[in-house]
Amino acid sequence: MSQTSAPNSTPYPDAGKPMTSARVRDLMPDQLPNIVMPECEVRPVLKGQKAIITGASSGIGRAIAIGMCAAGADVMINFVGDDAPALAAVEEATHCGCSNRGRAIAHCADVSDESQVTEMFRAAREEFGTVDILINNAGLQQDAAIEDMTLAQWNKVIGVNLTGQFLCAREAIREFKRRGVRREISCAAGKIICISSVHEVIPWAGHINYAASKGGVMLMMKSIAQEVAPYRIRVNSIGPGAIRTPINRAAWEAPEAYRDLLKLIPYKRIGEPEDIARAAVWLASDEADYITGTTLFIDGGMTLYPGFEAGG
Ligand code: BGC
Repeated sequence: MSQTSAPNSTPYPDAGKPMTSARVRDLMPDQLPNIVMPECEVRPVLKGQKAIITGASSGIGRAIAIGMCAAGADVMINFVGDDAPALAAVEEATHCGCSNRGRAIAHCADVSDESQVTEMFRAAREEFGTVDILINNAGLQQDAAIEDMTLAQWNKVIGVNLTGQFLCAREAIREFKRRGVRREISCAAGKIICISSVHEVIPWAGHINYAASKGGVMLMMKSIAQEVAPYRIRVNSIGPGAIRTPINRAAWEAPEAYRDLLKLIPYKRIGEPEDIARAAVWLASDEADYITGTTLFIDGGMTLYPGFEAGG
């Protein structure tokens, strides 16, 4: 994994001086400690498991697919539209260099379409025999001020981000219940991870369709988790903050935009898709067996109300 260092030599320029929170906020990135990215061992914690990852041809979904394949799972990389990025993700997953890696295949389906979702699960069962893990990741933004937002924009975002997660979760649970627990594969009959957002709790002006979809995902996830826990099915969410993906390019590509973004991130770096992938692999594994109905925020502290760091 790559190692990124900010170009400064004194990691703590103000060491020894009292650090009020107001002063920390005003420090520029080059006055803060170097950014060191984690280098983590890949372990085959998903060996023998079968996963569907929706929206996996780019961004967070792609990283999760590659991470799960490296951890031993066979993965179905779901996508819509052009198949080239999905096939490239399949290539990367299957050449990740991990000796325990699983297989990867691509499958085109619009998650907001009931029959396409049913067909995707049928294809996964045919190819892999069953499904152990669903990563409900497919999502999009169509931003507009409330007075300008069209019904089409509202319906599109709710359709993919919320209804799509429902349709996939329903199919996954049918399959998990049909098959039950296979002790040699996992303690649980199945695992669902909904990729939500910090905006399941942080209101977001100008993005009401997106925030409403993620708020909906939160209570949908918890309600499903409550309903299926006795069947030993675990359902959780990951709530990413700002992660370097195409969906929010405008927020990190230009240096001024990136500086503004860092004001919202106490940890003072943007998240990378691999930050999410490592957590998703762990959350889907038996190492996280007693965790259900919870959202794991992976956001560098974005949900810590950074606006309050200088007092209320
Ligand atoms: C959105 C990104 C945004 C991030 C933090 C995510 O859910 O998709 O566009 O940068 O939340 O605001």
